[in-house]
Amino acid sequence: MKTAIDIKIGIRHLDKHYGAGARRTHALRDVCLDIAAGEFVTLVGASGCGKSTLLRTLGGLEEYAEGDIVCNGASVDGPGPDRAMVFQSYSLYPWLTVTQNIKFCRRLKHHREDATSADVEMAAGRAEALVALMGLGHVAHAYPAELSGGMRQRVAIARALMMRPDVLLMDEPFGALDAQTREVMHDLIRHVYLLEKTTVVFVTHDVEEAIYLGQRVVVMAPRPGRIDSIIDIPFGARRTQELKLAPEFTDLKRQVLERIRATSGMRTDLEQLEKLTRNITLSGD
Ligand SMILES: Nc1ncnc2c1ncn2[C@@H]1O[C@H](COP(=O)(O)OP(=O)(O)OP(=O)(O)O)[C@@H](O)[C@H]1O
Ligand SMILES: [Mg+2]
Repeated sequence: MKTAIDIKIGIRHLDKHYGAGARRTHALRDVCLDIAAGEFVTLVGASGCGKSTLLRTLGGLEEYAEGDIVCNGASVDGPGPDRAMVFQSYSLYPWLTVTQNIKFCRRLKHHREDATSADVEMAAGRAEALVALMGLGHVAHAYPAELSGGMRQRVAIARALMMRPDVLLMDEPFGALDAQTREVMHDLIRHVYLLEKTTVVFVTHDVEEAIYLGQRVVVMAPRPGRIDSIIDIPFGARRTQELKLAPEFTDLKRQVLERIRATSGMRTDLEQLEKLTRNITLSGD
């Protein structure tokens, strides 16, 4: 018997514009997507195809006039503790230590006057567990300026997880890191995801990252921003870096890249450039 899938996020006919008149941009057109509870979905696509707009709208940071987004059965009309966001820039408080940064959350009960000592203890325990999980024990009392980029991003992720969000929304969180640190972060985020059983929506430019992390890769296309295709990733929960060398992985990479190239307009640009350079060469002969 088929069991019903528990839908965490339902996006229905979402449409969004920026600006007006000649500057009007159709950032999202008729976006429909269901994301199951506990699913890891990655979003890829050419620059300007609306990945960040979609993620920010899911996070309640952007308004939308048409369509609907439902999270946990309720319409999204602003930010909420059920959805946490992590961006490429680390956005840590420079005057707080690693542990203080993780603990500090405006929505945390223990920052309110009616907090009980049990609340404070529970928050402290959670922060400590996250420090350990993220491998930050040796820098727990250091300040952000004393950390590497990878460490700062681990603090930012730990802080996002502090409130046990149902959904983790990540916009190119590893975009500023070097290739080796990114690989370590990939395995770490997969580990955290399996442990915390969070639903993850992850935006990236890196196709390999999208396939390695995701259960589904959503390819978006620009002008107007829309979903082009959705590619299922058949690999199981436990993944190792070796997977990236498997022929199935390379095939998926080719498939995703092909869709991005076909929809980005880059091919046409390249063809035009080729024509132009051909003319220049001929006239120069
Ligand atoms: N605040 C804004 N005001 C006006 N236009 C915007 C705004 N934010 C985004 N846009 C436009 O909406 C479209 C989608 O932008 P978005 O940032 O979502 O793309 P993206 O896929 O995240 O791109 P990138 O890969 O470069 O980060 C683009 O054409 C962009 O210029
Ligand atoms: Mg973006």
